Amino acid sequence: MWLRYQPISNEQQLKTYRKQITQVVAQGDSATMQKAAAELQRCLSGLLAKPIASATKNPAKNALVIGTPNNSTLIAALGLNTELAALGDEGYLIAEQKINKRTALVIAANTDVGVLYGSFHFLHLLQTQQSLDNLNIGSAPKLQHRVVNHWDNLNRVEERGYAGLSLWDWGTLPDHKSERYEDYARINASLGINGTVLNNVNADPRILSDQFLEKIAALAYVFRPYRIKMYLSINYNSPPAFGDLETADPLDPRVQQWWKERTARVYKYIPDLGGYLVKANSEGQPGPQDYNRNHADGANMLAAGQKPFWLGVVFWRAFVYSPDIGDRFRSYDEFRPLDGKFADNVILQVKNGPIDFQPREPYSALFSAMEKTNMMMEFQVTQEYFGFATHLAYQGPLFEESLRTETYAKGEGSTIGNILEGKVFKTKRTGMAAVINPGTDRNWTGHPFVQSSWYAFGRMAWDHEISAETAAEEWLRMTFSNEQKFIDPMKELMMTSREAGVNYRSPLGLTHLYSQGDHYGPAPWTENSERPDWTAIYYHRAAKDGLGFNRTNTGSNAIAQYPAPLAKIYGDVNAVPEELLLWFHHVSWDHKMKSGRTLWEELVHKYYEGVEQVRAMQTAWDAQEAWVDAARFAQVKALLKVQERDAIIWRDSCVLYFQTYSGKLIPAGYEKPK
Ligand code: GCU
Repeated sequence: MWLRYQPISNEQQLKTYRKQITQVVAQGDSATMQKAAAELQRCLSGLLAKPIASATKNPAKNALVIGTPNNSTLIAALGLNTELAALGDEGYLIAEQKINKRTALVIAANTDVGVLYGSFHFLHLLQTQQSLDNLNIGSAPKLQHRVVNHWDNLNRVEERGYAGLSLWDWGTLPDHKSERYEDYARINASLGINGTVLNNVNADPRILSDQFLEKIAALAYVFRPYRIKMYLSINYNSPPAFGDLETADPLDPRVQQWWKERTARVYKYIPDLGGYLVKANSEGQPGPQDYNRNHADGANMLAAGQKPFWLGVVFWRAFVYSPDIGDRFRSYDEFRPLDGKFADNVILQVKNGPIDFQPREPYSALFSAMEKTNMMMEFQVTQEYFGFATHLAYQGPLFEESLRTETYAKGEGSTIGNILEGKVFKTKRTGMAAVINPGTDRNWTGHPFVQSSWYAFGRMAWDHEISAETAAEEWLRMTFSNEQKFIDPMKELMMTSREAGVNYRSPLGLTHLYSQGDHYGPAPWTENSERPDWTAIYYHRAAKDGLGFNRTNTGSNAIAQYPAPLAKIYGDVNAVPEELLLWFHHVSWDHKMKSGRTLWEELVHKYYEGVEQVRAMQTAWDAQEAWVDAARFAQVKALLKVQERDAIIWRDSCVLYFQTYSGKLIPAGYEKPK
């Protein structure tokens, strides 16, 4: 991952850093402080290629002094109270100071975890070879809950996971604690991630059994010093599943009591449990609607069980949809009427788009519609719809596009990022989650570049204004090389990769053309299934007269879910961004596009462009052999070859299929479909 800590190869830089950091001085002795000091030791001796001294007092010249005003007399004596006051419970300050008249570098925070985060940031400065002169950096997270979600089943198979088996080796826990558990915690803490949901949202009720709680407690013990809170996906029907009650009706006092008792038991094992994540009444999962109650009834009942304990929250997922209406934009219809009805320790966890982690979607209209409800983002790092762990598809640009979308919910500046931060609707609890895919693969994520999306997610969860390009550059520098000749072309490759994935699969606002179930290859021709919304034709609506889903007021009118200024743009076939055209409009094959091409020609052009982009990625990668170790070079090269093969299959399948409706020739100049 990005914590490799290889010696700095630039001689001059190495000399300078060696002079600037002579010693690590840490006073506090909490588990978190110890981890911070140990990380600095480990990293500095790696990067500086020599052991680094440590001390608890009397800093030498150019010491690195870390601590809080509470655990360190050295930090307290600096009188940084005003600077620290602005940084909250998790922020930190990295600054050059004088201690006993000697120059020192200081990592100071209000809390131990702030020191830990500051330590990782400091290391990151060295890993990316930035100057340490006149340092004065203050940083604090913009969101409270920065959480990763695992879709890991208890038999260690990961739903939509493509990097081996689940990391959690239930068979040997709690006795054996694999070293990987701690490395996993370090990876997350290095980004400021402060929560993990261990198990699949399609939850096995046994997660709440004593047998599993004992194992989970062992993992929580490893994560605790890194201040990563444990959350569990629970099955809504747990009371009947445990054989205790015949109902899970949230308004039944026996059910309420069951959850209070079970939750109290969970807190006995994990006293600092973060809370529960719930997928209810979605894709066959049980939920309050099975008892004629609504989502708020269910969420609030669980949230009440959490309240006496610490700061427990319920993340209630909004991913619900149903085929029995004209449009799958169902979560809006179900949740909008419940705005203001959720308890204050419930946070609605909403996927970025209204459908399902597609290569491109408009934003989920819930974000701009739920003024009185805590809401958090759910992204996906796992490339369920982006070629699994086989294709290179850096997700940073997708996250950035989503977070920077202007919703106009309260006039200009109502971006998704600002809504999440609580700046637009003044909600109390904030957060961002991502489904990640690490497993037993040696490189954690299958394709080495999936790591970059995990990295970008973490950085943007800390600060949603960090750009995809910045995150890409940081990741490249820390993971591979600081060589500019490597960074520039690789950054370009990463920044193109998501759009390439859109182009060869579903350009211009097309969506969900996948073969049913596996979500890897194309099957735009799927017309029959048990549910209409599990066919591709449901989404693309190809016909002799044109292509696309009419969601304007002459169609499903889903655009009415968006704030008026945006609905106006999306509803106007000439104003809607072309990348979303077919999402909102059914358009004639001869429709004139901005390029001057017809819709048909543009569609063909985009599909071919996607394949060309993959080829350009191959050429760019092939030129990097000097900067990458042999194993990773060969792996990525081979995977890009597979990606080219798949991109051609996507292109040709889709172009030839849509041609059966358009009845038009493939314009001259494009290679023949295979
Ligand atoms: C998608 C995915 C499922 C997952 C679901 C969810 O539909 O294919 O595997 O369970 O999303 O997010 O709940």
